[in-house]
Amino acid sequence: METQAGQSILITGGTSGLGLELVKLFHKKGFYVICTGRQPGDFTGFAGNFRFFRTDFSDLAETAKIFKNICSEIQPDFVINNAGILSPPQFCLTGDGFECSFQVNFLAHLLVNEIIIRNNPDNHPLKIGAVISPVYKMENNFPDWQCNVRSYKQLKAYSDSKLFLALMCAHLEEKYAKKKPACFSINPGVFSSSIYRSQGKLFRFLYGIAAPFMRNPAKVAESISEMMVNQGFSDGRIFSIRKKPEHMPVYDQHLIDTFWITMNEMTQQYLKS
Ligand SMILES: NC(=O)c1ccc[n+]([C@@H]2O[C@H](COP(=O)([O-])OP(=O)(O)OC[C@H]3O[C@@H](n4cnc5c(N)ncnc54)[C@H](OP(=O)(O)O)[C@@H]3O)[C@@H](O)[C@H]2O)c1
Repeated sequence: METQAGQSILITGGTSGLGLELVKLFHKKGFYVICTGRQPGDFTGFAGNFRFFRTDFSDLAETAKIFKNICSEIQPDFVINNAGILSPPQFCLTGDGFECSFQVNFLAHLLVNEIIIRNNPDNHPLKIGAVISPVYKMENNFPDWQCNVRSYKQLKAYSDSKLFLALMCAHLEEKYAKKKPACFSINPGVFSSSIYRSQGKLFRFLYGIAAPFMRNPAKVAESISEMMVNQGFSDGRIFSIRKKPEHMPVYDQHLIDTFWITMNEMTQQYLKS
């Protein structure tokens, strides 16, 4: 990949795992890197061309405020929607009243992308890559985004949140056709990280055994960085870490349209200045 000095990239969840590897890689390549997350992490040696914005995606009003602030200073050329959690073992709601992984993995990203696209000047190229997961294709039917303590299933909540994130890429390209953001999703496969930290004892134990055999997140970051700067990756499509196009699930258009109307209504209040 060629160094893209003078260009900027915003990476959500850049404080650990894959996000931190992406931050290091793009910074090394000469990009101006904007990183968000809850914990500042160890950013020793990142003094120049680097900004960290503490952001908790479980608070939508605060997230919107911070991203509006970022966009008033910087218009990123590239954005990676990377922040994410594995759904917790027990059903949990954010202060905004949404299931945690639905909000952190998907809804907060929809909100921040809306803010970034609306603030992006016309004719300024913008590319958005969303990190999904191999489990996005678990559902045959279009999922009901509303779950409750009785209907909650941990893996389903996670896979649904990643499916919505993948569908969001096509939705944003269509909604903002005049602004022409290039959006696509990346299925990163499985790699070692500390994403298991919110899980139960058994899961953490099994993960600890498997982790040394998993892909290195630095390798995943390298592949994602190449897709970000290559023009062939856009059109709301999904790509594997080997850069191969993947099948986008097809659902009843009426259900999808209704879903986006609801999501737009939910984010609207946070988009008003
Ligand atoms: N590891 C895998 O095998 C795997 C497989 C498929 C997909 N993925 C996806 O890859 C992405 C990166 O995950 P990872 O494995 O590198 O895990 P990770 O090390 O746990 O990184 C997750 C990042 O998300 C941020 N984050 C978590 N909760 C947040 C919140 N409430 N508000 C803002 N930021 C938050 C974390 O930052 P703070 O803790 O500082 O907030 C951290 O920087 C995720 O989207 C994950 O779903 C991972």
